[in-house]
Amino acid sequence: MTLHFLQIAKKLAHDAGKMALHYQEKGFKTETKGAFNNLVTEADHAVEKLIVETIRKNFPDHSILTEESDPIQGASEYKWIIDPIDGTTNFAHGHPMFCISIALIENGKPILGVVEMPTLNETFWAKSGDGAYRNRHRISVSQKSDFKECLLAIGVPYDRGSERAEKSYKMLRGLYEQSRGVRRTGSAVMDLCFVACGRYDGYLEYGLKPWDIAAGKVIVEEAGGMVTNMDGSILNPKEENLLASNGLMHQPLMDFIRAQS
Ligand code: 2AM
Ligand code: CA
Repeated sequence: MTLHFLQIAKKLAHDAGKMALHYQEKGFKTETKGAFNNLVTEADHAVEKLIVETIRKNFPDHSILTEESDPIQGASEYKWIIDPIDGTTNFAHGHPMFCISIALIENGKPILGVVEMPTLNETFWAKSGDGAYRNRHRISVSQKSDFKECLLAIGVPYDRGSERAEKSYKMLRGLYEQSRGVRRTGSAVMDLCFVACGRYDGYLEYGLKPWDIAAGKVIVEEAGGMVTNMDGSILNPKEENLLASNGLMHQPLMDFIRAQS
């Protein structure tokens, strides 16, 4: 059954990626949601509509949680968690780092993740127990265990001036000083996938939502990495803080975060 879900999710992610690229080529309207730096585009809505309608057609009793619409409650134990475009600010500025994220949850546990990066021609995907893949290639996390050899990623919260934003600036500086480099991609889902394939050795961010995390978490874990709260506890989506790593860097990163607070 999960194979059937995976095939549909991969085809859907691919079609959604093509739709997003089409919008980037032909142009689109952009609006703000509340804050001046919280964007949504015509493409976010159109891609979300495509994904939701396809899931509803194939699985009418499944629940669906998406970033841009009200949740749909179904009777089954399956729930899809969707970000139609992760990295909307990048997308809106014509920057290529954005992706489509599709996850399937069974009784609260993510079992499937498919992430389409149309500008890179890369699809990251994983099914619980079966490993993680980039296109047709099996992927695994890096083996780095020393900060000096690590390329890390950090997300900086959008609520400027908040306590967690101040903490993030401090962490950015601390990580930058002791690692090979720190990147701020602008897409949490891409950051997670890049940890999964060893491009990044660790990634941390405050203020994420379930659709920023669900698919990437399965992919990182199936690639041999770890995804937890910043204190190492089981990820609590309500607390909205996340630490992902290759496993070897998890404790050093937790120690680093604790030393900053
Ligand atoms: P989004 O592009 O789907 O909104 C980047 O660090 C991450 O933060 C992205 O995954 C982005 O998801 C998310 N994010 C959360 N709040 C945001 C905001 N107000 N503006 C832009 N991105 C935001
Ligand atoms: Ca989004």
